Formats: sequence, structure tokens, C-alpha cells
Amino acid sequence: MTPSKKLYIKTYGCQMNAYDSGRMADVLAPLGYALANRPEDADLVILNTCHIREKAAEKVYSEIGRLRPLKRRKAEAGGRMILAVAGCVAQAEGEEMQRRAPAVDIVLGPQAYHRLPELVARAHRAAGAVLDTAFPVQPKFDSLPAPQAGGGVSAFVTVQEGCDKFCTFCVVPYTRGAEYARPAAAVVAEVEARVAQGVREVTLLGQNVNAYRAEGPDGTTWSFARLIARLDAIPGLARIRYTTSHPLDVDADQVAAHRDVAKLMPYLHLPVQAGSDRVLAAMNRRYTAADYRRTVERLRAARPDLALSGDFIVGFPGESELDFEMTLALVREVGFAQAFSFKYSPRPGTPAAAMPGQVPEPAKAERLARLQALLDAQAKAFNRASVGRRLPVLLERAGRHPGQRVGRTPYLQAVHLAAPATAVGDVVEVDIVAQHPNSLAGRLAGTPEEAA
Ligand code: 5AD
Ligand code: SF4
Repeated sequence: MTPSKKLYIKTYGCQMNAYDSGRMADVLAPLGYALANRPEDADLVILNTCHIREKAAEKVYSEIGRLRPLKRRKAEAGGRMILAVAGCVAQAEGEEMQRRAPAVDIVLGPQAYHRLPELVARAHRAAGAVLDTAFPVQPKFDSLPAPQAGGGVSAFVTVQEGCDKFCTFCVVPYTRGAEYARPAAAVVAEVEARVAQGVREVTLLGQNVNAYRAEGPDGTTWSFARLIARLDAIPGLARIRYTTSHPLDVDADQVAAHRDVAKLMPYLHLPVQAGSDRVLAAMNRRYTAADYRRTVERLRAARPDLALSGDFIVGFPGESELDFEMTLALVREVGFAQAFSFKYSPRPGTPAAAMPGQVPEPAKAERLARLQALLDAQAKAFNRASVGRRLPVLLERAGRHPGQRVGRTPYLQAVHLAAPATAVGDVVEVDIVAQHPNSLAGRLAGTPEEAA
């Protein structure tokens, strides 16, 4: 029998990293690795890193510094802790990481996870570190095992990975590689398997998820909308979400899906990044602010209650006060239910890092504060408007208080309410009674007030 070993994974960054961490745990489970909650007892520690914004690599190096004594203690006790760095920092740093941090045994890029068992075995044998930052993405999906049941109601499924857009600020095309879409049959099979495990909601993941185009089971090329229509037909699946969409890839079928597909939730993460055409061009976003407004109009014509979420960058090189005000104007006009906003952070090797007109830090901070104040006010107003409404809520898990459950509205708002444990996994009608800073309070429709 395989002796039981402990695995600790620390995940940074995006939802795709969270999905990847799950798959790394799955691929290591047959080797006898069970998940641990802390690195102290682990035989294998994986840092699944993110490179999107500043100081990512530095943060990873300091985390490695914190793990070094644990590793030493384990060795003194006659054991061994293998330290692996995965994800986009690993991809970007490569051999440099092995040189700077000899405590690291394995450096593996996002496309090498299926080879983890082999890399771990090699690390056990080798004195030096092993490195795999090769790029072919398809073998990863072909050879990773099916996700194991985690008991959750909502699951992520990667359908597309990589990006060909080359926005001038972004490292993703360099760390995740070229666009690759999984064959539709593989996606359908994974979603069906998850539903059989009790999953009721899937979020389809991709850096450019709506650029999805892949071979369908009928031999034709399937679009993203075609894939969604097929998933809609899976019995037992209640809700479909997806992220992240690029405005340029929103086509008529994607718009129509928001009108026609009942399981598709009225919530869309559609990053605009900026409101000035000059800045958008310098970012290589390949749309204008007017294009973005039109796209939103088309989507809202198809689904009037569509809630929008966005990403914003302030202080991109060359951004003037006037440019920035165009971002504020666009936000006011479009209205966002939720948003993520960042100060521009120069990523080495990307074109924008070498552009003239780098914006000084205080101006970036000031613009970010103004933008966030506006976005926060919009998010609060959006949540306030839900109070008094009756909404279908998918109950996801137990809350912190006895008898309390946590679920989500179609618009991705978290709702706390009293409901029986047996109702987890159900979509229930909920009267929204109050708004808290990060969630809503609700009451099962038809229950008396004191039950809330
Ligand atoms: N600086 C600041 N924000 C960035 N993002 C990506 N790269 C950078 C960068 N260099 C933001 C974008 C993207 C989100 C995931 O992260 O807004 O949509
Ligand atoms: Fe990065 Fe742009 Fe691709 Fe998004 S679309 S992953 S921001 S390069």
C-alpha cells in the first residue's frame, strides 16, 4: 500500500490557478498525497503563483524564505520536504528561480502539471532541482485525471487557456502561452461528471473564454455559444457562468445566449480597462470606448437585467488626467455591479513597461482612489436595489451561524439566510431583506419574518 503523504498547496491569483491547484491535488492523489491545511507537516509544498501584477516574484521568494526553516527541520528529523513552485511566476522565472532559491526542488509552468508525479519522483532521486516550463498545452488536458468530488455545489471548469491578444501591459500571453481550447466533448464529459458528483453550477474558465472555438463531437467547429447551449441540456445542472470575456470576441451568438439559455446567469465579467480611446489603443485592446458601450447595449437588449463586472487599469503610460476622466465617464454611463481596479504595474518584458510617459505613483494612487470610490458606490447601489426583491438563490454551503446557509443570486451576490442543511444544492426563492457591506441578508420566501 502507498504510505500516506501530505501535500500543501498555496494558491495565488486567478480562478484558473484555483482550478489548477485542484487538478494538481487530483494528479498527486494516486501517489498517496492527501491535502494538509498547513505547510508544517507537508512532505510536498506547492506554491501556485501569479505573475499578473507587481512584486509577484518577490512575494514568492519571501514565501520560499519562510518555508526554508520548515524544510530544514524536516530534514533534521530524517524526512524530506519537497518544495515546488508552479504557475506563472515559475514560468516567467524558470532557471533563474533555481539559481536564486536553491531550496526549490521543482519549477513547473502551468502547462506541465500532468507531469507532476514524474517531476516529484525525479526530485526525490535528484540532488539538484528539476525544471519543466515547456509550453504544449494539449497534453496537460489529455493526461490530467478527472476532478475528484470535493463536495461543492459550484465548480470551475477550464475550457480555454492562454491568450493571443497581447495587450501591451499583460504577461499572460508569455506565461500561459497561445490560445488553446479544449474539445467540446471533453468539456461536456467533465461537466457531466461534476454534476454526477453533486455540482449544480459550473463556471467556465478561460483567459479569453469567449474566444473559445474547438472541435465539437459532430466534427464541426463549435463556438462558445454552441458549447453553452450543449451544457444547458445537461440534466441536473442548474446554472452556467463564465469568465473572462474579451469585448472584441463578443459575437451575436454570445449575446443571443444571454437571451435564450435559461441556465446562463445574467452576470458578465467584461473588462474594459480604460475609457480613453488613446489609452485603449496604446494598450492594444483593439476596441474603442464607443465599441464597448455598443457591446453592452446589445447585451442589455438581449438580457435587460444583465449585471456587469469589469477590470480597470489606472495610470497606464501616457494616461493624462483627461484620459482618466474618460474612464470615470464610461463607468458612470455603463454602471458596474462589481469591479476590479488596479494601478498600472510595469511587467518586465511587456511593451508598456518600456513606453514613455510612465505615470508617477502618487497620481496612480489618487486616480485609483477616485475610481474605486465610484465603483464602490455603484456596487453598493446595485446591492441596495436588490433589497425588497425576491430572487432565486443557489444554496452553496453552511454559514458561520447555526442554521445559516450561504447562497448566491443570479447576479453573483452572496446571500445569508436561514435554511435547512438538506437544501444545500437547491435553487430556492429568497426575499432579500437587507444589505451588508459584502453580502445580502435574505429569508426563504413564504417563511415568517423571525426565521431570518
Ligand atoms: N498592471 C495592472 N493591472 C494589470 N492587469 C493585468 N496586467 C496588469 C498590469 N501590468 C489587470 C487587468 C486584467 C486583470 C486580470 O489584471 O485589468 O484584466
Ligand atoms: Fe492579458 Fe489582454 Fe490576454 Fe486579457 S486579453 S489575458 S489582459 S493579453
